[in-house]
Amino acid sequence: MSHIGSYDDRLKNFSWNISEKELGYKPGDVINIGWYCTDRICQMGKANKPALIWEGSTGPEKRYTYNDIRLASNTIGAYLRGLGLQAGDRVCLFMDKIPELYLGFLGILKIGEIAQPLFSAFGDESLFFRLSNAEASAVITQKKHVPKVRKILDKLPHLKHIIIVGHEGAAPLKEREVAFNLEKAGPVDAFQIHPTMAESPSVLHYTSGTTGMPKGVKHVHYSLIAQYLTGKWALDLRDDDIYWCTADPGWVTGTSYGIIAPFSLGVTQCVLDAGFQAESWYKFIEKRRVSMWYSAPTAIRSLMKAGDEIVKKHDLSSLRHLASVGEPLNSEAVVWSQKVFGKPFYDTYWQTETGCIVISNYPGMEVRPGSMGKPFPGVTGVVLDPVKNEPYPAPGKIGLVALKFDWPSRMRTYWNNEEAFQKKFRGGWYITGDRARLDNEGYFWFAGRDDDIINTAGHLVSPFEVESALLEHPAVAESAVVSKPDPINLEVVKAFVTLKPGFTAGKDLDLEIMNFIRKKLSPLAMPQEIEFVAGLPKTRSGKIMRRILHAKEWGEEIGDTSTLEND
Ligand code: PRX
Repeated sequence: MSHIGSYDDRLKNFSWNISEKELGYKPGDVINIGWYCTDRICQMGKANKPALIWEGSTGPEKRYTYNDIRLASNTIGAYLRGLGLQAGDRVCLFMDKIPELYLGFLGILKIGEIAQPLFSAFGDESLFFRLSNAEASAVITQKKHVPKVRKILDKLPHLKHIIIVGHEGAAPLKEREVAFNLEKAGPVDAFQIHPTMAESPSVLHYTSGTTGMPKGVKHVHYSLIAQYLTGKWALDLRDDDIYWCTADPGWVTGTSYGIIAPFSLGVTQCVLDAGFQAESWYKFIEKRRVSMWYSAPTAIRSLMKAGDEIVKKHDLSSLRHLASVGEPLNSEAVVWSQKVFGKPFYDTYWQTETGCIVISNYPGMEVRPGSMGKPFPGVTGVVLDPVKNEPYPAPGKIGLVALKFDWPSRMRTYWNNEEAFQKKFRGGWYITGDRARLDNEGYFWFAGRDDDIINTAGHLVSPFEVESALLEHPAVAESAVVSKPDPINLEVVKAFVTLKPGFTAGKDLDLEIMNFIRKKLSPLAMPQEIEFVAGLPKTRSGKIMRRILHAKEWGEEIGDTSTLEND
């Protein structure tokens, strides 16, 4: 039983007011996430409590108390203000998981600017589209990522400042570039926090769509109300926890539950800025005495693959609670975790658009391995009949996962794309784009996506974006991108390609094209396989039928092909 009561107890008389009260917020008050995550915790008497313990692959660890993160976020906020940036401006964070990423995020929010976190692994084209679409005024980055920014600078008239962390002693700065050193800048104690209100924009996360380029999901400061309470109830974060969220803040998990929820709850969290390796992950848990661990199925499957023996070599007795997000968590992984860690991974389901966990397994609730659990109290989730656009009258059938669009951290729109936002609704319901079925006790069982989006290692990749990038390669005439099964990442990107005259599918052309995509987009968007074909299946109107290629890869029935061109 959890310390905060059973799921059924919490459902009764639920109101988001519970969260507002705990945070001391009343409608109409100023609400600033940066303040709630730092100043408020200090005011509650926890100024000297560790907030962030950071460890990189090289170099010494760094430790920050709540007072340290309060001062450092002030310093960054003051610095950005000094550059002339104003509330509402978009400031991109393009960094590895270094402390400045976490502190910069809070600093940006404190001055009412909008934080746009992007994965540092993004190639120049992925970066360009997102910076340009957001019309970002500044980017905070590291020296090693500057070349990617320089490459696209001419096409970014809105980008006035490139703020480089760790530039010391390096080559001279170029146009629009400034060097910033947090330690040298010194702490800023007296600081005017921007009086953001509930609906003031806070964070812009880009996510992949089925058609068209990625969309910027706009969140507001009021999202805190849901991130705080889901952190407390769904993740069961407690005051004495040492929390480890393995997600990168380039992904919504890394901001909602890697910054906002733990800090607003005054919890100590640790960050490991290094790639995945079973041995180093277990060592990290042992050394840091991690008690709450939030991770993702691909990592869990990789740990399973590394075997049980390596688990036994480490003292992981500090672990109290484990949760997972991002992809279907297969029942085998839950059963394995129970066997080796003595506790199951609790699956949680949500999206960039939802801003917080919306369906999940909770402490105090029976975990059904393979199920995503039940809607968070205050969230109405249903399985919709795709024909009638209304909930099925009885459980059991697979349909669309749909939500009543009324919880505090729901997105407010897609950036500059209200039309795409409106398309997310049917019959008054918000359509997630996922399919699931309900069982008799109200548990949701994930069935798959309802579109062509590829979920590789928990990251959504748009086939459209990869196809567009492929067409820029000189040898590619046409392409179709689908997923193919993978034992660890669940699915990976596969491209079918037809070549332009004069090119042959010779040795290494596939590797060259793969590399081309990796550099332009990202390692995850890179096709793991390229199959050169003479032609692609198309409808009579000339549209490429990805569905047929997808079915072939997954060994599924091809289904209706009556609209196929060469039938
Ligand atoms: O398809 C679902 C899958 O990830 C999508 C959301 O991805 P993103 O916006 O990148 O945010 C992920 C982090 C919150 C969903 O539409 N997904 C997420 N969690 C689960 C999941 N699929 C199955 N089970 C989950 N627990």
